[in-house]
Amino acid sequence: MSSLPVPPATPLPQASPSLCSEDEVMRLVHDFYARVREDPRLGPVFTEHVADWPGHLAQLVDFWSALLRGTRRFQGSPMSKHMAIDAMDRDLFDRWLALFRLTTAECGNTEMQRLADDIAVRIAGTFWKRYQMLRWPTVALPVIGSAG
Ligand code: HEM
Repeated sequence: MSSLPVPPATPLPQASPSLCSEDEVMRLVHDFYARVREDPRLGPVFTEHVADWPGHLAQLVDFWSALLRGTRRFQGSPMSKHMAIDAMDRDLFDRWLALFRLTTAECGNTEMQRLADDIAVRIAGTFWKRYQMLRWPTVALPVIGSAG
């Protein structure tokens, strides 16, 4: 029972307008999705599902603004949209997170980076676990704390 995560030694910052600006959120989202679109595996998934890129980016800016700055513009249903995507796999989530961390590392705002990375890994883990439960309900998931 020793492999469960422990709380970070330095508490995470809270979402707040003082954590980062709307411009910083916008830059994070735009730079990240520019990378995603160039990725050989992630790019085609987005090409298949996203017809209106300006609209998608605006939606994602609202999403991250809510999580990092506490704004209330975001209205969406991320869980159901991701569950509807066929051919999701662990490698896609790993790539998504690697590109996200690459982008937050460049944002020049360490506290924003810490909170964004933490939220991203939690949501990605939740999506992936839920996806597996919905798509392969009879396959046993790995025990909590082990890889996978
Ligand atoms: C394997 C990883 C992922 C893939 C391939 C992926 C792909 C997509 C695609 C194709 C859409 C557009 C869906 C549509 O409009 O029908 C979308 C929307 C979205 N994604 Fe992801 N995504 C991934 C991970 C994540 C993670 C980890 C987060 C959050 C931390 C996230 C947040 C969102 C949000 C907020 C939307 C908009 C939802 C809405 O409009 O209601 N995605 N994603």
